[in-house]
Amino acid sequence: MTDALMTTYAQRDEVFVRGQGARVTDANGREYLDFLAGIAVSALGHAHPAVVAAVQDQIGSVAHLSNLFRHPYAESVAARLCGYAAMDAVFFTNSGTESIECALKIARKVMHARGESERRGFLALHDGFHGRSFGALSLTHAEKYRAPFAPLLTTHWVPAGDRAALATALRKHRPAALVLEPIQGEGGIRPLSTAFLQAARELCDATDTLLIHDEIQSGCGRTGRFLAAQHADVTPDIVTLAKPLAAGLPMGACLARGEAARALQPGDHGSTFAGGPLVCRTALAFFDALDAGLQDNVGARGNELRAGLDALATELEIVTEVRGRGLMLGLELRHSAPLAQSRLYDRGLILNCTAGNVLRFLPPFVIDADDVRQCLDHVGAVLRELPSEPPPPKN
Ligand SMILES: Cc1ncc(COP(=O)(O)O)c(C=O)c1O
Repeated sequence: MTDALMTTYAQRDEVFVRGQGARVTDANGREYLDFLAGIAVSALGHAHPAVVAAVQDQIGSVAHLSNLFRHPYAESVAARLCGYAAMDAVFFTNSGTESIECALKIARKVMHARGESERRGFLALHDGFHGRSFGALSLTHAEKYRAPFAPLLTTHWVPAGDRAALATALRKHRPAALVLEPIQGEGGIRPLSTAFLQAARELCDATDTLLIHDEIQSGCGRTGRFLAAQHADVTPDIVTLAKPLAAGLPMGACLARGEAARALQPGDHGSTFAGGPLVCRTALAFFDALDAGLQDNVGARGNELRAGLDALATELEIVTEVRGRGLMLGLELRHSAPLAQSRLYDRGLILNCTAGNVLRFLPPFVIDADDVRQCLDHVGAVLRELPSEPPPPKN
């Protein structure tokens, strides 16, 4: 430990030195099964040969040029993203937060262009999480994240799933945009229903409000479709991506269609690093893998993991609910999820715990049936050792 790092993260002591596929090895040579994948990032696992080859080739030719110059890889990534997501144009970023920031700026710009500059606020959902910059933090629901940095942008929140509250808030507050995660990630792997996603689209259309889907955690194939909202047949005006987009390298994207795609003009927005040749090469390697059948693996492994977790929920009283889709699953416990997470680490399984008592499964897309079985064995063994009722509070 060093005082030279700001203390923003609760870090574990293990130091990981190598990774291969869905496994990582610590400095003592101990191997772990990685069902966290760098918080939904390493979709191709660790040291995937296509990613290694793309990085080696590109870094040996030219790694960075800036956005003052064209390069073919950015154009290919943008064209493929627009195809996968049914969007018209892409702005590249380096992270999820920056993708949200771009989306908010587009929404403001669209309202100015329409002559509705008074529509400057945003609407978001209870339990939503969208990042930590001033703009993204303004949307994030949890008071504990926002309070130390107030005042932020004007935002109102409605409960996820409450159509009537959404209709009222859209008319009352006239926000520039509604921002939602089709499956809330940090909020505890809470999928929005198809009916609510469709209602949000209809109500945004009826009030001329832009609809922004944050698919930073749920997107890029994690649920078995490129976007989670595609399961509900809903297309937003803007969608934000990041996490697995460049298979482990930092890359995000803000995709838009219609007037939102044309809102930003030269000088309105920019990034020195974003969309450079290096990250674009790895994004293309990721897309090639998705197109070559990886998406089917997500569906198949997701079904196996889900079935195993459902069986644990039936067997064990400590499990209250299984939620999510594809390889974005959450197991809610009555109590002690942080303890379960820590015991899973001790057994060699990495996953994390969110929203209090939800164990969160975000494995690489390349896991096989054996990895799923091992994960379920570990989780079953740890949960069977825990009492179904919470331990009495200590005085
Ligand atoms: C849904 C969602 N939006 C935004 C973010 C912020 O992304 P980043 O940490 O890459 O800035 C996250 C990160 O967990 C997220 O899950």
